[in-house]
Amino acid sequence: MEKKVKTCVFISGKGTNLDHIIKNSRSYNFPIKVDLIISNNSKAEGLNIAKKHNIPFICVSYKDQSFFERICLFELRKKNIKFLCLAGFMKVLSSKFIRSFNGKIINIHPSLLPKYKGLNAYKRVLKNNELYSGCSVHYVSNKIDGGKIILQKKFILDKYETEKTLKLKTLKKEHLLYSQSIISLFK
Ligand code: GRF
Repeated sequence: MEKKVKTCVFISGKGTNLDHIIKNSRSYNFPIKVDLIISNNSKAEGLNIAKKHNIPFICVSYKDQSFFERICLFELRKKNIKFLCLAGFMKVLSSKFIRSFNGKIINIHPSLLPKYKGLNAYKRVLKNNELYSGCSVHYVSNKIDGGKIILQKKFILDKYETEKTLKLKTLKKEHLLYSQSIISLFK
C-alpha cells in the first residue's frame, strides 16, 4: 500500500493488542502504520513492545485531564497522526479531545457490547452465567464503550470457565478482531 494512515496507539498495560497491530501493520496491504505509542503509565509493559519494534513512544502520566490531553494533541500534531487506536488504555478521553480527532478513534472492549460496558467485564459475564461472550471493536464516543460498533467476535463459554480462561480466550480473539476491524474501516 502506497500511503498508510499515520496512527498512534494508546496503551496503559501489557500491550498484547498493540503487538499484534504492529506485526499486522507490516503487511503491504494493511491500511495503517503505527508511528507513535502513547502510554499514561510509565510502568506499562507495552512500552517494551514499542522498544522491541523500534517505534517512538512517550509516557504522558499527568493526572490533570486537560493537561494530559493538551500534551497528547501537541505530540499527535507534531507527527501528523490521523487515526487513534486505544488498546487497553484506561483513561477516559474528553468530548473535546474526541471531537478534535473527528471521530477517528477506535477502541477494543472484552465483551459483546452493548452488554458489560466499563470495568470488570469478565467477572460480570461469569456472574450472570452467560452462554456466550466475546469482544467488540467500536468507535470512541463521549459515552464509555458506547460508540458505534465496528466488528464483534462471539464465542461459547465453557462449563467450567474462570476469569483466567475467559481472559485468555477473549484476548486471543481480540488480537485478530482489532486488525480485521482496522482493515474493514479503510476498505
Ligand atoms: C483488552 O482485553 C482490551 O479489550 C481491554 O484491555 C485489554 C488490553 O490488553 N480494553 P492488552 O494491553 O492489549 O494486552
